[in-house]
Amino acid sequence: MRSRTIPPSRKPVNSSRTELEQSVTEVFTDKYGAVPACVVSAPGRVNLIGEHTDYNDGFVLPAAINRATAIAASPRPDHSLLIHAENLGATMLLDLKDLHPRKTGSWSNYPAGVAHFLLKQGITLRGATMVIRGDIPRGAGLSSSAALEVASAYAFLTLNEVTMPPLDVIKLCQRAENDFVGVKCGIMDQFISCLGKKDHALLIDCRSLDYVHVPFPAGVHLIVCDTGVKRALASSEYNKRREECAAGVCCLASRIPGIQMLRDVTPGHLMEFGELLDPVVLKRCRHVVTENDRVTRSVDALRANDLVQFGNLMYASHASLRDNYEVSCPELDAVVEICSRVDGVLGTRMTGAGFGGCAICLVREVYTDAVIERLQREYPPRTGKTPGITVCTFEQGVTVSSA
Ligand code: GLA
Repeated sequence: MRSRTIPPSRKPVNSSRTELEQSVTEVFTDKYGAVPACVVSAPGRVNLIGEHTDYNDGFVLPAAINRATAIAASPRPDHSLLIHAENLGATMLLDLKDLHPRKTGSWSNYPAGVAHFLLKQGITLRGATMVIRGDIPRGAGLSSSAALEVASAYAFLTLNEVTMPPLDVIKLCQRAENDFVGVKCGIMDQFISCLGKKDHALLIDCRSLDYVHVPFPAGVHLIVCDTGVKRALASSEYNKRREECAAGVCCLASRIPGIQMLRDVTPGHLMEFGELLDPVVLKRCRHVVTENDRVTRSVDALRANDLVQFGNLMYASHASLRDNYEVSCPELDAVVEICSRVDGVLGTRMTGAGFGGCAICLVREVYTDAVIERLQREYPPRTGKTPGITVCTFEQGVTVSSA
């Protein structure tokens, strides 16, 4: 293995997907003296509602956004993966015959993990030269990891002329993150990065893996506000929440025959048997059970173009994540509180795992500037941090172009 660090490129990364693809192609061509055989780009996501429900077999409603990770790639005649991460100014040389998780250069664990599980499925992989470039802020809860896994998977599949159904790619990428990178995430992020659709959100049933695209109404904007708090606690607390959910199911199963996951538990069950549970576990269960219900009602509201109801469900989701699931933080609460006082705001909540990262705000278009102005004015004195504000659009999932 060879690892070296050079100063990151000064070239600005543009948020437009086509420009990102063009720029990763240019970097590849400059560095390796030939155009890449394929260029893949996979988007990050926001989750509109349905937080911490995916690993409980529940419902989620994410959307792919106009931030992505792009990979330019060509085959190599040997068994190595030469991968350059342009944003980090780092290059790794890995041996396809000896792939294992690494501590240094941990970013390379994502493509390496994907390659590892493709090989495990019996797919023969040629060596590859790759350049990665992206504009999804890392550690901001917008799924830069899933985008890198999905882009890597499609790059390997394309270079090796293998086709695989999207659901299999999604499961393989989740497995790479769970069992190679070591983060026990659910399936939502990889799912939306593959199957996002322009101007639509995606309702996913995380048990059956059935999904349906839900059109997002015109006349509103979704503002994403990065709190600037990196999700440091995220993986240990995330795993703890998963364990608490499992403990809840285990205890309730003695009274409710046949339940497998919190998906099977109703608000009525919690009323009847809640006192059997440890009070903290009860709060965690209450969040998941009510959140699943909110997702279903949100989709009904979107279909009926009832954005007021949709927004109210966003507020309720945030309150439950803050008070029952306890995964918010003062900065996320500050964004939500500031936005909620601006005219034209329909709803706002944290998005993603929590403990920092981003909050989202659904606002009637004409009030967008007012929200941005208020966040810029009020957030820094309250938190000592600068908000990272983007108005996002909903985009299609992974795309591949071959030379
Ligand atoms: C992270 C995980 C997802 C999901 C969310 C919380 O983004 O990767 O699988 O569990 O947190 O909803």
